[in-house]
Amino acid sequence: MEDWIARWREGRIGFHEGRPNRLLECCVARLADCRRVLVPLCGKAEDLAFLAAHGHDVLGVELAEQAVRGFFDEHGLVPSIAPHGPYTAYHAGAITLLAGDVFALTPELVAPIDALYDRGALIALPAELRPRYVALLGAVLPEAAPGLVVTVEYDPRAMAGPPFPVPEAELRALYAGATIELLGEQPVTTGKCAQLGVSAIERCFAIRPIRRSS
Ligand SMILES: C[S@@+](CC[C@H](N)C(=O)[O-])C[C@H]1O[C@@H](n2cnc3c(N)ncnc32)[C@H](O)[C@@H]1O
Repeated sequence: MEDWIARWREGRIGFHEGRPNRLLECCVARLADCRRVLVPLCGKAEDLAFLAAHGHDVLGVELAEQAVRGFFDEHGLVPSIAPHGPYTAYHAGAITLLAGDVFALTPELVAPIDALYDRGALIALPAELRPRYVALLGAVLPEAAPGLVVTVEYDPRAMAGPPFPVPEAELRALYAGATIELLGEQPVTTGKCAQLGVSAIERCFAIRPIRRSS
């Protein structure tokens, strides 16, 4: 299992783009009707500030408290800090980041929430954890909630993840019953794939509903 805390401590964060994700920039209008957006495994992504700048209340969840603190420091924000169930909640303006394990989320801890934005979350998890993660999202998001999900695809023989390749067929199996629409794609030019010269593509899908039909 990946030691994410060590990665943050040692600065091995090639996944951090340092600017809003371009596919999010193109597709953010898809979330226009959704006030509060859940961003699991959020790191200190610029996507958080970008979503807030587009009028959303943002609830991020991140294991590494260093990343959470880093986000607020780098944006010149002084957050309030308080316990929130098993999490430590950092809050400033429209952004709340919960420091802790995403698998401890409950509907009560995230409510009210309207939508999902996932970049670097599903693809950070090994295959055996992905169904559990998607089931968790289904449990904490309300019925009919939409999501934007950014995946990565590459030849799995080319390198070991994370990021793990999640082909469209796997995404469709994980979100069985949902309507899934490919909104855009771009070559991956940063992070481990780029460092190792692995040809990879990032794809942004609109998924509705995130909650799996039973
Ligand atoms: C690939 S990075 C993506 C970060 C961010 N979404 C981005 O686009 O830059 C995955 C992040 O998930 C965090 N993470 C891994 N496992 C987690 C868990 N169980 N709960 C919460 N965060 C977790 C890691 O610390 C890391 O910051």
